[in-house]
Amino acid sequence: MANESSFQLSMPEADIALLTFDMPGKSANILSKPVLAELAQHLDSLEARDDLAGLVIISAKPNIFIAGADLREFVASMDIEPEQTAKMCGEGQSLFARLSKTPFPTVAAIDGICVGGGAELATWCDRRIMSDNPKTEIGFPEVKLGLFPGWGGTARSPRMVGLANAVEMVTGGASISAQEAFSMGLVSDIVPVDKLQSAAIRLIRQEQETGEYKIDREKWSGPVDISETELGFLGATASAVIQAQTKGHYPAPLAALEVMMAAAGADIETACKMEAEGMAQLFGSPINASLLNVFFLTDRNKKDTGVEGDVPTRDVNHVAVIGAGIMGAGIAAANVKRKVPLTLSDANGDALAKGVSNVLQEVSFNRATKSADVERAVEFAPLINGTTSDSEIAKCDVVIEAVVENFDVKRQIFARLEPLLDENAILASNTSTIPITTLAEGLARPEQFCGIHFFNPVRKMKLVEVIRGEKTNDETVATAVAYAKRLGKSPIVVNDGPGFLVNRLLFPYMNEALELVGEGVEIKHIESVAKRFGMPMGPITLYDMVGLDTALYAGRIMWEAFPNRIVASPILPALVKAGRLGQKSGQGFFDYNNRKRRGEPDPTLGQLIEPHLKKDATPLDKKDIEARLFLPMLLEATRVLESNIVRDARDVDLGLIFGIGFPPFKGGLLFWADTIGAANIMEMLKPLEHLGDRMKPTTMLEQMAAEGSKFYK
Ligand code: NAI
Repeated sequence: MANESSFQLSMPEADIALLTFDMPGKSANILSKPVLAELAQHLDSLEARDDLAGLVIISAKPNIFIAGADLREFVASMDIEPEQTAKMCGEGQSLFARLSKTPFPTVAAIDGICVGGGAELATWCDRRIMSDNPKTEIGFPEVKLGLFPGWGGTARSPRMVGLANAVEMVTGGASISAQEAFSMGLVSDIVPVDKLQSAAIRLIRQEQETGEYKIDREKWSGPVDISETELGFLGATASAVIQAQTKGHYPAPLAALEVMMAAAGADIETACKMEAEGMAQLFGSPINASLLNVFFLTDRNKKDTGVEGDVPTRDVNHVAVIGAGIMGAGIAAANVKRKVPLTLSDANGDALAKGVSNVLQEVSFNRATKSADVERAVEFAPLINGTTSDSEIAKCDVVIEAVVENFDVKRQIFARLEPLLDENAILASNTSTIPITTLAEGLARPEQFCGIHFFNPVRKMKLVEVIRGEKTNDETVATAVAYAKRLGKSPIVVNDGPGFLVNRLLFPYMNEALELVGEGVEIKHIESVAKRFGMPMGPITLYDMVGLDTALYAGRIMWEAFPNRIVASPILPALVKAGRLGQKSGQGFFDYNNRKRRGEPDPTLGQLIEPHLKKDATPLDKKDIEARLFLPMLLEATRVLESNIVRDARDVDLGLIFGIGFPPFKGGLLFWADTIGAANIMEMLKPLEHLGDRMKPTTMLEQMAAEGSKFYK
């Protein structure tokens, strides 16, 4: 297929050229080097013609105009010198700029996704028309990869839609709808998909008549239309917003802002040069490499069915959730939002009523108005059915249990419900700690039982662990994975074991934080080291959020499973005994009894901790604290790999990023470890030897250090 072309040139009318982008054998159009070369050839011949009134560029792919540049080419050129990056940007800019210099007007006719390099190509055309397809959107997501647009996006867009709009699009990275694009003047018209081509041709005729495109060509090649005062104000506010959002961990948005501000007074050619030079500073940086890894992790996850080979999945038309508490209501809402009819049940009538009301509140929440939306409530209400009757549950295809974390209670529910269900139905548990294989004992169809483990808060956390018990069959796993994806989640399949994947890796980290407290390290230092590393919150705040009683209970399970590695700190029981359960009780490690219910240091905490402090602890600096927190997590990850808990090492990284917010700019735990190297990690572990087994290098790490190998091949 390699010699087939990606563009077809046709003449829908005698003087109109139509370039249809349709990469052979691919579901999406991507801008790769061969594609750009082909575009250049077409432009060579089109520019030379004198019989044309205009050029329309359109895509033959449904729902996709252009999905951006070929990121595999990016990865392959990570090591190039900045000068070469700048040169490559310059080449792309010059190629696309030809679309604004042709002897006739050019129009991008956009249906579906138009992002990254695709948005740049479209922006270099004289005009854009979009379809009214809800999937149609345009945007510059480059900052999400630690970059900014480098083919003229930062230079062309402010001249076309104003600096404020362009800065928002480029530094925020979010796509905008056709309607938003129309409002800011980025597109000339919105039409039904089947009218896209004819509307584009009509626009060309109109432009030929008025000659307006020529005026715009002139205008858009000069400086941005903005006063010095406006420029100063915009720079200051945008920079404050970006600093607050990136917390200094992601340099690309600020770099984009700086380039756009500095180039505002220049002509387009100088602006392009500045863009290329700025982009060269970002391309190939460690953060760029990490974020590209996250992109590939996510992309792989989208395609992963959770099983090997072609396994059929069952239809999921109706789901039941048992237990209407925090998790049950969250899972129910996730279903309703995706239009999956949902039956919610609870043994306690008040809890059920509260659960249903929480679901309705969540699904009808309108982000724009920050309040419940009546229309949405009316639309979603028929999809949720609160009941205490088992007969309603009996007709469901998937039943997810989310009742209290108590083995006997869960087992009784399964014993009661399983005989009522259709023989193809899947029974699942949202348990965070109880082994799936143990829960399945006594079931008539253990092969149709698995863990479907959501994370708290369900609306925010994308991760779902699909846990395979010893007897769970492939069809059940594949159906659970497809179902979780339908809810918009990123499921990973893990084998059964204490804490499954994410909690198993989280515990050594949280446990170590408590050990540090016991050694007299100030809580604020532990928190700041974790946050500086990039964690969304410190481990001590996380304790308060999870609930100290829950953490104690789950910690005990981990301790029973791995007694040589998990230290049972006396601090947690002391706080629980004092009634300090975390955010929910108003006090944990921090105090929440203030107007904003924000965690504030509590001077009385010291008295509770004091009796448990170790007397002869060595003082630790920030580097020591970072090693103490994150190396146990990494060592546990190697044990997880040794015992085949995950199917692929990449699932460890995806699980931690989507499950606990491990910093994406580090690319994942194992990706980060690769940047340090196994041999260096062994060195870092040496001074921690006295802490015992939990800091002992694993066989895998020793082997990797000896071979000089990495987690990512
Ligand atoms: P919760 O305490 O908020 O809700 C549990 C609900 O189950 C209550 O409404 C209770 O009335 C109901 N219930 C108790 N016995 C029942 C029975 N026999 N039949 C029907 N309903 C019954 O608990 P939460 O936090 O929602 O946890 C539920 C499950 O999810 C647990 O297995 C927990 O380990 C797991 N989980 C919890 C997470 C969290 O952060 N809270 C995260 C991931 C999993």
